[in-house]
Amino acid sequence: MDYTVLGRTGLRVTVMGVGCGGPSRVGQNTGRTAEESTAIIREALDSGINFVDTAEGYGTEEIVGQAIKGIDRSSIVLSTKTSTFGKTTAEDVRTSLEESLKRLGTDYIDVYHLHGAILQDYDHLVSVAVPALQQLREQGKIRFMGITERFNADPQHAMLQRALQDDIWDVMMTGFNIINQSACQRVLAKAIQKNVGILVMFAVRRALSRPEILHETIQGLIKNGQLDPDDIDRDDPLGFLIHEGGAVSVADAAYRFCRHEPGTHVILSGTGNSEHLRANIASFARPPLPEADLARLKNIFRSVDSVSGG
Ligand SMILES: NC(=O)c1ccc[n+]([C@@H]2O[C@H](COP(=O)([O-])OP(=O)(O)OC[C@H]3O[C@@H](n4cnc5c(N)ncnc54)[C@H](OP(=O)(O)O)[C@@H]3O)[C@@H](O)[C@H]2O)c1
Repeated sequence: MDYTVLGRTGLRVTVMGVGCGGPSRVGQNTGRTAEESTAIIREALDSGINFVDTAEGYGTEEIVGQAIKGIDRSSIVLSTKTSTFGKTTAEDVRTSLEESLKRLGTDYIDVYHLHGAILQDYDHLVSVAVPALQQLREQGKIRFMGITERFNADPQHAMLQRALQDDIWDVMMTGFNIINQSACQRVLAKAIQKNVGILVMFAVRRALSRPEILHETIQGLIKNGQLDPDDIDRDDPLGFLIHEGGAVSVADAAYRFCRHEPGTHVILSGTGNSEHLRANIASFARPPLPEADLARLKNIFRSVDSVSGG
C-alpha cells in the first residue's frame, strides 16, 4: 500500500483508509456481527492500511477499539468526529471526545473533526467548538483538527469553501468522485495552496456500486441540464472505462480516479465484505486511469455539482 503525507499534519498515511461509516458501517448495516466487522478492520490493518475513520455518530467506535487492541497505537492514524448541530456547545465537544476515547480504548485521537458541518452553522462552530478543540489539542487529547462536509446536502461544497478562507483546519473531508468532480476547483486547488490534508469520501457509494442507481443518476443529470446526452451512452454510461489496460470494474475506476487526483491524500473506502476489501486494496495498487479515459470522464461530468452519487 502506498503512503503519502497528510498535508500540514506531516502524518504518514496510506492512500486508502478504512471508512467505518457510510452505507455499510463496516457491515453493521448489512447484517454482519460486531466480530465480523472487527475482523474486516483487522484484515485491512494487516494488509498494511494505517488510516481508520469513524465517528461518534456511526456507532462503530467500539468495533474500531476492538480491532486496534494490541496493535502499536503509534502505527495507526485514528480519525473520528464529534457530531455538529446548530447549537453545539464547547461542553458538547469535550464530553463527546471523552466518550470517543473510551469507546476507542485510546488516550488520543490523531485527527478529530467537526462532523457534517453546514455553512449556516459554520460561524457558530468556529466561535464555540474551535476553542474547545484547541484546548483539547493543548491537553494532548487530539493531535490535529479537521472538519467534514455534509455532501448529500451540500454537493457544491459551500461550507468547505468558507472553511478554506480560515487558517484553522489541518484536515478536511470532502465528497469527490467520478460523477461530482466539483471539489477539484472548489476545494482541492485551495487546499493544495494551504497544505491542508484531504480525506475523500463518496469515492464509491451507491451510484458507483449499483448500476440501477447510476442509471437513475445519469437520467436526472440529463434532465437538469448538467450532462449532455450526446456525451454519453445512456445504457452503459461508464462501460468505456473497462477494457484491457483500463479499469477492471466501475468501482476500480472510481477509486483510481480519486486516488490519483492531485490534492487528495487518503481515499476512504468502507465495506462489510472481505472480497470487496481485497478488490479495493488491489485498485489502490494500480496506476492512474489511461489518459484518454480520464479526459473523457472530466469532459462528460464537467458541469455536474448537483448530486453526491450517494
Ligand atoms: N460527512 C462525513 O463526515 C462523512 C459522510 C459519509 C462518509 N464518511 C466517511 O467516509 C467513509 C467513506 O464513505 P462513503 O460514503 O464513500 O461510503 P463507504 O463507507 O466507502 O461505502 C461504500 C459502499 O460501496 C460498497 N462497496 C465498497 N467496495 C465495493 C466494491 N468493490 N464493489 C461493490 N460495492 C462496493 C459498500 O458495500 P459492501 O459493504 O457491500 O462492500 C458500501 O455500501 C465512510 O465509511 C465514513 O468513514 C464521512
